[in-house]
Amino acid sequence: MNSYPQHIAVIMDGNGRWAKNRLMPRTVGHVKGAANVRHIVKACNELGISYLTLFAFSSENWRRPADEVSALMGLFLQYLESEVAEMKAAGIRLRVIGDRSAFAPLLQSRIDQAEQDTAHNTRLNLTIAANYGGQWDVLNAMRAWQLANPNKTLQDMDADALAAHLSTADLPDPELLIRTGGESRISNFLLWQTVYTELYFTDLHWPDFDAAALKKALQWYSQRVRRFGRTDEQVSDNPALAPEQSASVLPDLGAGLKIS
Ligand code: IPE
Ligand code: IPE
Ligand code: MG
Repeated sequence: MNSYPQHIAVIMDGNGRWAKNRLMPRTVGHVKGAANVRHIVKACNELGISYLTLFAFSSENWRRPADEVSALMGLFLQYLESEVAEMKAAGIRLRVIGDRSAFAPLLQSRIDQAEQDTAHNTRLNLTIAANYGGQWDVLNAMRAWQLANPNKTLQDMDADALAAHLSTADLPDPELLIRTGGESRISNFLLWQTVYTELYFTDLHWPDFDAAALKKALQWYSQRVRRFGRTDEQVSDNPALAPEQSASVLPDLGAGLKIS
């Protein structure tokens, strides 16, 4: 049995269908979705989760109608303006990953400011993936590695060297990925970082994914056996054989996991 994951990643999907089911415009779903980000961030902070990474806007989401894209950009700006003061007080460190150069200058400067304002916080590390794509991240990391190592060739690059240049270089890989909205795909989210992540799919649309639903996902996670390529017997005889897992496995089987 696993204790809480240290790092939870979420594909917050289903805002549009949530609204459509209620005969409302898709943007209403996004407004509800943004409000739910606030609730889930708070719930994770209270549970003592160390890292939460939220997929807010993919590099492919620019393909949506212009009015929906601009509503999403407006909500992102609004979120930063309304939440950062509280994040500072609650010990939350905010990072944004993705290609921010495509954003309006005002949004870019608010992102920079929010990151600076919360840089010393150590409780919950909240990462928002915006204009993010997993393929972009890996390609970018390869280019950055080559720039940092001009006298080497790709033959000299190993997995750790590449990972050090990913946008998530400061974060552990997520142990749990949750996708709401009923789809069972990655949609170009964290590709490199999810090699051994437990994948949890729920039909709930993001605005309906509340703290109780989060606890259900954590309960599901607690039952997973993480083998990292080894056999059941190897892992149960000697949990230390799975070093990557050691941080998430406690000898007392997760006394902190209080699921009602
Ligand atoms: C997720 O909800 C939010 C973003 C991708 C920005 P969707 O807008 O994808 O909602 P559905 O999938 O259309 O219901
Ligand atoms: C994934 O959702 C991206 C985010 C939640 C930000 P999409 O709604 O864009 O994914 P697809 O297009 O259904 O795969
Ligand atoms: Mg969707």
